[in-house]
Amino acid sequence: MNAIHELATRLRQARRVLVLTGAGISAESGIATFRDAQSGLWARFRPEDLATPEAFQRDPALVWRWYAWRREQVAEARPNAAHYAVAELARRVPTVLVTQNVDDLHQRAGSVDAICLHGSIARTLCSVTHRDIDADWLAANPGEPPRSPHHADGLARPGVIWFGENLPQNVLELACDAARACDVILAVGTSAMVYPAAGLPSIAQHHGAWFAEINPQATPLTPQADLVIAAPAGIALPAALTVWKES
Ligand code: APR
Repeated sequence: MNAIHELATRLRQARRVLVLTGAGISAESGIATFRDAQSGLWARFRPEDLATPEAFQRDPALVWRWYAWRREQVAEARPNAAHYAVAELARRVPTVLVTQNVDDLHQRAGSVDAICLHGSIARTLCSVTHRDIDADWLAANPGEPPRSPHHADGLARPGVIWFGENLPQNVLELACDAARACDVILAVGTSAMVYPAAGLPSIAQHHGAWFAEINPQATPLTPQADLVIAAPAGIALPAALTVWKES
């Protein structure tokens, strides 16, 4: 059996699927992954040096502008075949989507209840209280960044989880519960270098799940995968759903 057929068979037989996605699933929508070289104006910065609480403390305007640029990229991008395939999968079998992505491409493809481990680029928070700042307030209070309306010492900050920050406990628990409950787990387009997300396949496998990885490059999880499909997500996932329909 070839790999796509095996994936299709496993998915068809599954009772509960967990799909864990990373930046690679949005690569075919034109959004640079984290560990790709950045282009244009931001080419001389590394995301690891911008997406941290220390970077924001050092130079809030720089970090604010980087996120504004990324927000524009996301607004111009469209979901690709892989995002649509994940949404279609959930219509065929109970599926929990856990994404590390802060873009909204899964949601725009129809996966409305994704568990967003690393927050959302569309949200803005108070840097002190972490309370949400409303979009209308932001529109009326420009600044790079504006001061927070929720705390005198706070600034508006992107609603994403930065390197070194903890994930919200309830979000992490939902993801771990889904990992323990699934019988098939797919890791799609993640370099599997950032924990706790990268630990979800191990939790699932520990509870008996079958694990497939879809990624053109090997990752630290590759050796433990039951199936590896070294192909772009936008090809592999729709192909598996097509084979499922035909078989
Ligand atoms: N299809 C599938 N996988 C792809 C594709 C594609 N078309 N293109 C690239 N990839 C893979 C790369 O091979 C790489 O392994 O996607 C992965 C992207 O890795 P990262 O950029 O490290 O993204 P991710 O794993 O989501 O990063 C995790 O780290 O920077 C933090 O918080 C940020 O959520 C992010 C987290």
